Amino acid sequence: MKVLVLTGAGISAESGIPTFRDADGLWEGHRVEEVATPAAFQQNPQLVHKFYNARRRHLLQEHVRPNAAHIALAEYEKNHDDDFLLITQNVDNLHFVAGSQNVLPMHGQLMEARCTETDRVIPWREDLTPSTPDPETPSRRGSLRPNVVWFGEMPHGMDEIQMAAQNADLFLAIGTSAVVYPAAGIVQETPVNCRRIEINLNATPQSGVFTETIRGSASIEVPKFLKRLQLEAKTSGEA
Ligand code: OAD
Repeated sequence: MKVLVLTGAGISAESGIPTFRDADGLWEGHRVEEVATPAAFQQNPQLVHKFYNARRRHLLQEHVRPNAAHIALAEYEKNHDDDFLLITQNVDNLHFVAGSQNVLPMHGQLMEARCTETDRVIPWREDLTPSTPDPETPSRRGSLRPNVVWFGEMPHGMDEIQMAAQNADLFLAIGTSAVVYPAAGIVQETPVNCRRIEINLNATPQSGVFTETIRGSASIEVPKFLKRLQLEAKTSGEA
């Protein structure tokens, strides 16, 4: 059984990372969409860096750890014999910390920086400013940006995502509001006979296309559902 998982901010909410759209969706009075664009970075790089620096610092706090949902996905993957791909829209690193292996962070990673000149990606934990150079090319000042995908930019791994969607036997969407494309459209790419499961506190605009919708918190419902899957596989003799 080929399993494809898509996660969004809701899976990390119980790890203490605020979602994008659940409260007022604002950061210091700015809509996230206004800070997370190439145009915003060009016009006001200080502001965009400040936004991502705050998020990076938050992620580095000791109490921000993977929760039971991240951990259950990593354990499920370890025991799964067929294809397993975990696509995440989250820029936090919690799936990696939990031990997931085949992770595709389609919106990039907060703990990475990318040189705007060379596209070199490097692990990054510090604050960035408009004049932070790539340490390997310090003469080119101001060329590092967060390695995250902004509105209007192409998410990573779209070919791999499309292929995995078209081949999926089971698609599991966890904690995503299903309003940001192309992620929101992945479910539509899965075959008609694919078992589509949505786990979310609330209904989403895509809920209607899922085979089963589970309303509840990710930390409770994800381990429960994955246990059920394993039991089903055991009784049917599958991996
Ligand atoms: P959103 O903030 O839009 O949605 C979070 C979803 O998680 C909502 O549908 C909530 O109902 C659900 N939720 C919240 N807490 C939950 C919990 N404990 N258990 C289960 N579900 C819960 O986040 P995303 O869908 O990830 O893009 O947002 C998609 C993209 O929009 C982000 O990757 C980001 C953003 O702007 C970029 O930055 C490019």
